[in-house]
Amino acid sequence: MKILFVADVFGPAGSGAVRDGLPGLREELAIDFCVVNGENAADGRGITPKLADRLLAAGADVVTLGNHTWARGEIYPYLDASERVIRPANLGAGRPGRGLAVAAAADGTPVAVVNLMGWLFLDVPLTPFELLDDLVDEARRRAQVVVVDFHAEATSEKIAVARILDGRVTAVIGTHTHVQTNDARVLPGGTAAITDAGMTGPHDSVIGVKSELAISRMRDRMPVRFEPAEGGVRLEGVVVTCNDDGKARGIEAIRIDA
Ligand SMILES: [Fe+2]
Repeated sequence: MKILFVADVFGPAGSGAVRDGLPGLREELAIDFCVVNGENAADGRGITPKLADRLLAAGADVVTLGNHTWARGEIYPYLDASERVIRPANLGAGRPGRGLAVAAAADGTPVAVVNLMGWLFLDVPLTPFELLDDLVDEARRRAQVVVVDFHAEATSEKIAVARILDGRVTAVIGTHTHVQTNDARVLPGGTAAITDAGMTGPHDSVIGVKSELAISRMRDRMPVRFEPAEGGVRLEGVVVTCNDDGKARGIEAIRIDA
């Protein structure tokens, strides 16, 4: 099976790259299942129901989120109702949505997708380590192929989670930092991993934001309203190849000019 993971879709440029590029890419690469991280789709922060529907219509089987999940209130009821748009499980029980989805690949094989957030340098009510084992066990009861989107700031935490889950899931894909790392590899137990899959959006920017605005906030220390940049648009992510039993055979990072 071939799984495409599309990294953090940022703003209108990122959404446009998915809308225009994903259907053809799925076909060209003979993709069986596609996960899209959409947490920056709405002008860089969060996602709306309309934007989530558009990612699904373009070919996402499951959409994952991250630290900006609660930025748009209109997504709350949508997350409660949706089986295929999920948010980090450790954002708290009793809040809208869930952190696990199971959807069918092109040939009908069930694929589980788990979404978790790191706690180093990020504000989460629970560390990922408190939920990780139970969540992965539940995912594996429902599917042999399991993809984890680990949305985290620190490379060390992302690598640690990949090591913890090696041999238990098909892939641990790091997201959130928006810079694709050069470490896509299959770990000894058969789990594919990359520290960060990159960003689908405007790369003439500071991780998606107009450079002058991001620089002004850092240098002048004054409040600045961030706006998504527009230029240098790329679709980034990874393609994971795996066996029916869920063991990864390969992982390849992709960067495609939109
Ligand atoms: Fe994020």
